[in-house]
Amino acid sequence: MENLISLVNKIQRACTALGDHGEASALPTLWDSLPSIAVVGGQSSGKSSVLESVVGKDFLPRGSGIVTRRPLVLQLHKIDEGSREYAEFLHLPRKRFTDFAAVRREIQDETDRETGRSKQISSVPIHLSIYSPNVVNLTLVDLPGLTKVAVEGQPDSIVQDIENMVRTYIEKPNCIILAISPANQDLATSDAIKISREVDPTGERTLGVLTKIDLMDKGTDAVDMLEGKSYRLKFPWVGVVNRSQADINKSVDMIAARRREREYFSSTPEYKHLAHRMGSEHLGKMLSKHLEGVIKSKIPGIQSLVNKTIAELESELSRLGKPIAADAGGKMYSIMEICRLFDQIYKEHLDGVRPGGDKI
Ligand code: GDP
Ligand code: NA
Ligand code: MG
Repeated sequence: MENLISLVNKIQRACTALGDHGEASALPTLWDSLPSIAVVGGQSSGKSSVLESVVGKDFLPRGSGIVTRRPLVLQLHKIDEGSREYAEFLHLPRKRFTDFAAVRREIQDETDRETGRSKQISSVPIHLSIYSPNVVNLTLVDLPGLTKVAVEGQPDSIVQDIENMVRTYIEKPNCIILAISPANQDLATSDAIKISREVDPTGERTLGVLTKIDLMDKGTDAVDMLEGKSYRLKFPWVGVVNRSQADINKSVDMIAARRREREYFSSTPEYKHLAHRMGSEHLGKMLSKHLEGVIKSKIPGIQSLVNKTIAELESELSRLGKPIAADAGGKMYSIMEICRLFDQIYKEHLDGVRPGGDKI
């Protein structure tokens, strides 16, 4: 049976595909109603590293300065053990990437296509799906890192532009904020905490991640932060140890890095008691479970918007009459189909649900 996260993924992709053509007015509202997880943090706080650890693959562009200049909607799909992993972009349908270095290049190229090579930013998202036996079903939106100053060749407005773009995503009540803060800086100066506190003052939809725990000054530790004593959120903080720049230069692979991370938490006396809820692997599982829970709780709202969207698309189609571009018409039909599928699975879910059960 299809799970809820992958179904919501499909609606998201269909919305974007249609949104590109700007035909259907109902879609932005539907898109906004779909829960997603957005990754926020200051530049070099470790956002890309966290995403790559959760995926277990190197595939994101790297470098200093503002590397992420468009939102990246990353949809992870778990496939059967033993299947070959691959990636697919929404803007390149039917092309399967099995070389993840090529995925990285395509993200870069597609960023440049939209923004020119001007180091400008754009809020038009890139959609990437990764199919792998080693991932959990999850959708994450990677956003440009928050900065304090523009660099050479960038307009001064870029600092504010990035902040505004990040805010547009995370102020939506259905957005789960994955707030990345480096442990070797004071939490009071964390860009991620600063902006998430603005839009989610009670911390109800903010998940705090602490990176660079291995880089803290000797004699200090992250226990107070990890136990929520420095900054309280509704959900427990997760600490991670990503690959250092030296590890990346030496091409330390993700599997080895995850193993080392596990050992780090279980063998460091300060963190032993927290080890079961630390690390990238735990983070991935926790996020997937959390996202599914949020989707379940939002189903009635999504459901009514889905029905409204079907109705609006149907009337739009009949209004447009016969001479409609086959392309646009086809896409509208496909989102209707997906909406109907959602409807059906939702009803099956209602029939089959048991308390605490994991039917879907
Ligand atoms: P982003 O700009 O937020 O995407 O940050 P990156 O993921 O690119 O990380 C910036 C730099 O910090 C890179 O050189 C990473 O190797 C390094 N880094 C990130 N997380 C950690 C960590 O937990 N430990 C160590 N030692 N280095 C890290
Ligand atoms: Na960076
Ligand atoms: Mg990055």
